[in-house]
Parts: sequence; C-alpha cells; structure tokens
Amino acid sequence: MASLTSPSQITGEISRLRSPKLRRSTHPNRRVGFGVFASASASAEEVKPEPDLSVTVNGLKMPNPFVIGSGPTRDELHGHEAGVSLDAAKVVNVTPRYARLRAGANGSVKGQIIGWENIELISDRPLETMLKEFKQLKKEYPDRILIASIMEEYNKAAWEELIERVEETGVDALEINFSCPHGMPERKMGAAVGKDCALLEETCGWINEKATIPVWGKMTPNVTEITEPARVALKSGCEGVSAINTITSVMGIDLKTLRPEPCVEGYSTPGGYSCKAVHPIALAKVMQIAQMMESEFNLNEYSLSGIGGVETGGDAAEFILLGANTVQVCTGVMMHGYGVVKKLCDELKEFMRKHNFSSVEDFRGYSLQFFTTHTDLVQRQQEAIRQRKAVKKGLQSDKDWTGDGFVKETESMVSN
Ligand SMILES: Cc1cc2nc3c(=O)[nH]c(=O)nc-3n(C[C@H](O)[C@H](O)[C@H](O)COP(=O)(O)O)c2cc1C
Repeated sequence: MASLTSPSQITGEISRLRSPKLRRSTHPNRRVGFGVFASASASAEEVKPEPDLSVTVNGLKMPNPFVIGSGPTRDELHGHEAGVSLDAAKVVNVTPRYARLRAGANGSVKGQIIGWENIELISDRPLETMLKEFKQLKKEYPDRILIASIMEEYNKAAWEELIERVEETGVDALEINFSCPHGMPERKMGAAVGKDCALLEETCGWINEKATIPVWGKMTPNVTEITEPARVALKSGCEGVSAINTITSVMGIDLKTLRPEPCVEGYSTPGGYSCKAVHPIALAKVMQIAQMMESEFNLNEYSLSGIGGVETGGDAAEFILLGANTVQVCTGVMMHGYGVVKKLCDELKEFMRKHNFSSVEDFRGYSLQFFTTHTDLVQRQQEAIRQRKAVKKGLQSDKDWTGDGFVKETESMVSN
C-alpha cells in the first residue's frame, strides 16, 4: 500500500479498495508454482532468489502472511488490536483469567505448555484510547496493515457507529468477532451471533452495508458444521473469514480443592481454549472452509485467515497448504513475545526454500487435493494392494494381528 500521510489520503485509499474490482486479492496464477519440482534439477551453483513472503489479500499488500491474532497482544507493526466495542465500561474482566495445560506426566510444571484457556472478555480499555492508538499506529507504520477486531451488541445503530468511528482512524480492514465463546452472550455478542446463522446474516448485512473497507468474519469452532456460518458471512458481504476463535473448554478441576480452573473466588466459567493443542482442530476447520470456498466462491475475491496453535513456520505452512491467505498468531505471541514473528518468517522461508517455492501463492491450497472420503481411502488401498499383490506395510485384515507382535504391528500402521 502506498505511504499514507494524511487522513484524506487514507480515505481515498480505502474507498479505492472498496471498489469490488480493486479491493480483492487477485491471484490468477494460483497454484502455478506446482511446476516447481521440474526445476529441482537446476545446477547447484545457481543462486536462487529469496522466497517472497509478501501476500496481497482483499487488495491489502502485506510484507508477510502473519497477522497478530486479536487478544491482549497489541502489534506494533501490523495485525490486530484487541477486541473493540463502543462502551468499554460494560466490559469487566476478572483475575485469574488464564489456565494452562502442560505436556508430560500429571501436567508437570516443567512440561511444555500445549493448551491455554482464557476467560478474558474483549478489551476493557476505552474506545477513545483505542481509536487514538489506531491513528497513531497508521501514522507511524503507514505501509503496514492494521486490522481492527470489533464486537458489538445486536443493535444496528451501535454497529454503524462503531464501524464509522473505527474506519475514521484509517485502519485497513475490520475483523468481526462473531466467535468469542464466553463473550457476553446475554448481550448477543461474539459466538452468540456466530452460532446462529439467521442472526449472523442480519448482523453481517448491517456491517457490510456500512463498512467501506474489507471485512473478515471471525468464526467460532463451537458449532457442528463451521462451513455454514462461514458461507453465510461470505454471502452477506464479508470479503473474508478467519478461523478459528477459541474452543469452549474447562481446563481442569483442582483435585485438592475440587474447584474448577481458572478459579475466581471459588468459582469458574467455561472459557476459550487455544495454543498448540487446538492446532489440529483448527487445521480441520480451515480445510473444511477452504473446500467450501473453493467449490462455491471465486477464490480471487475472498480470503481465508488460518488461526490456532501457530508457533513455528511449519505450523503456518500447514494453514497455507490448506488454503489460508494469512495466518494469525495469538497465544504464541503471548508466550514468546513479538520476536516470534521473525522466527516464523525465517522458518516459513526455510520451508519454501526446501520445496523451491518462490511465493506463498506457489503452495497455497496445494494439500487440499489430498483429502477424500474414508470410503475412497478403502478403495484406493484395495486397489494399491491388488497392484502390489502383497502388502508391505500394515495389516490387510484384523485376522492378521499376531498378538505377540502387537506393538510392532501397531507401529506399522501409524503414518508419522
Ligand atoms: C487471552 C486471549 C484473548 C483473546 N481475545 C480475543 C478477542 O478479544 N477477540 C477475538 O476475536 N479473539 C480473541 N482471542 C482468540 C485468538 O485471537 C485466537 O483466535 C485463538 O486464541 C486461537 O489462536 P492461538 O492458538 O494462536 O491463540 C483471544 C485469545 C486469547 C488467548
């Protein structure tokens, strides 16, 4: 994006983006990079250009696909601000509001943190303060993308006012929190809207009628079929969807006090689960949304942001291989600091170098083609067995279990 030096220029840029023809990412060459394997035989001395991490999403040019996920971390370069609503006075947080799960025997305090529960609400900082910071950030980092994460009550006028005030600051896009699991459902906020497709359609309608910059709807995984709300959000004017927000969780019960964690004055409430442990679930949700988008929407016009348990460049590559345009990191930044973004970029580049991918578009969505039904897996395996005449790996049938060789036979059927 061109350097923006005055609010009027900002408005000009945004309205240009709002033009349906210009504001959306255009990647006609999606997947062209797969021919890359043909170049693997190039001479060893040939100097390869650095892999290019930059992406263009809904018309927004980003230096890399990483976005700081909405949460307590406030990115200084590009990314989100914590959830914003009109009346911060209604947001009252409690402490403790986090609980962690560690790998290893009995959740040993030395084990690696793999799961994180929070019962935090959106930001309780006044809207005015947040708006001032948005303006300041855009002034200091005009070439970086700032996405405001916003959430409001089921009230058209309130949504319109919030959108207008946030847009005035010059932010580049809006992400709508339709997904916080513990976020004031009594006020029809967060997942209370995201779980109800009729409410979602109506609210998205209000938002997209008002917004003049790209809008991403952030999806909750706490539904049976995540493609349904994702489809509603895209059909109701959102330029993109993000997935996932946190998964409803109860971190545990203290076996001495018999009270649930995190424990506030002896009581708790179910919270939202994030971190490494949710990564496989997030991958499945992103894969399902990507498949739906691929079959029902023009992928050059809509975007997908993958979120959940990203701590390495490899984690991010997985989301991109499943069709994500951008990858968000929240708990990873809370645990390791902003420095993790540099590590993620380096590791993602390393992955790209290994595969000779020169751009993110070279491999975006590549792995989607390898998903099929279980019935098809059976047929493929039977066919492969027929062709090989003998199975070298795994058992053909349960009657082939030997008993004594149980551990070895189990191992032979694991894929990694
Ligand atoms: C402490 C905390 C606060 C969060 N607050 C918000 C929020 O205000 N709005 C929102 O849309 N998501 C919020 N999230 C969800 C994250 O943005 C993200 O979707 C989720 O944690 C999964 O990604 P992760 O494993 O990288 O954290 C929050 C997550 C955490 C851990």
